Amino acid sequence: MEKYYWDTQLEYLKRTRDLYYNDDYLEFLVSRVWKITKPVHIIDFGCGYGYLGLKLLPILPKGSKYTGIDKGQQLINKAIEYFHNLPYETEFFVEDTNEIELEKKYDIAVCHAFLLHMSEPKRMLQTMVDSIVNNGKIICFEPHWISGMSSYELEGVEQSRVVPLGILQRLFEESANKSGKNGNIGAKVPQYLSELGVKNIECRVSDKVNFLHPDMNQQDKQKLFNSLKEDGVGGEPVNIDQFIESLQKQGVTIKEAQEQFEAELLFSQVFNMDSSLIYAPSMKITFGEIEKL
Ligand SMILES: C[S@@+](CC[C@H](N)C(=O)[O-])C[C@H]1O[C@@H](n2cnc3c(N)ncnc32)[C@H](O)[C@@H]1O
Repeated sequence: MEKYYWDTQLEYLKRTRDLYYNDDYLEFLVSRVWKITKPVHIIDFGCGYGYLGLKLLPILPKGSKYTGIDKGQQLINKAIEYFHNLPYETEFFVEDTNEIELEKKYDIAVCHAFLLHMSEPKRMLQTMVDSIVNNGKIICFEPHWISGMSSYELEGVEQSRVVPLGILQRLFEESANKSGKNGNIGAKVPQYLSELGVKNIECRVSDKVNFLHPDMNQQDKQKLFNSLKEDGVGGEPVNIDQFIESLQKQGVTIKEAQEQFEAELLFSQVFNMDSSLIYAPSMKITFGEIEKL
């Protein structure tokens, strides 16, 4: 039987999560922005190996509980393993969130890099909202690819030569129109939540700006470089013919596709462990409150 895709992506997930938030920023959100002072029961949709739980439980009031749901059996096994020796109350379920029926009993529903993989993200937001008690919260950490793509600075090369934004914007739009899955979902969530009746909606941006530079100590440099590569920064485009054909199918001209190939190739050639690179993923963190009558 073919392996479930995300069950094969543990290393990618583990290596890239550190690119997004500084721990002090998450502490700031919990204590100063969300003002969580009493133990809460959190449910994490598409929890993977439990990344958000591992980050949030140490900074949430003692006695808080974490429920993780994911379709990946291997990822859930990992989550159970990671939490095994930690002093937190947790439970994990291998479930498809499109099919799941949940009790309305959670104080906070969260998700991280999950809605972008949903072909009907608003429907999923409704499922999340429906799982939350009155006066509870929904918090979505989701990407906004085009914002991340405009947040590079690779020393020694003009950015427009390695990340031509215009065409990327069109490609993202085309792909979202076709499949419903949207890498820019982070910037849509506030409006969707508003349409679903969520109150006091606010949106923040992830704080972390990654700075790779030659003077870093070797170990930190290697770790950051690997994370950036895993996240697709400076990835080498492989087969020019397939690349162009695939972009043409997405409504791009041959010339534009060739230029995009050359830009990605150049990026992959000039980016190495001793590059000086700034990159801010610019995730959007949208949150609001459930007030049911
Ligand atoms: C990019 S990963 C993010 C994982 C985790 N939230 C994190 O940030 O590390 C997307 C996750 O969504 C899960 N997922 C996608 N579709 C799902 C579905 N229909 N039901 C449950 N989980 C799903 C995948 O298995 C995967 O673990």
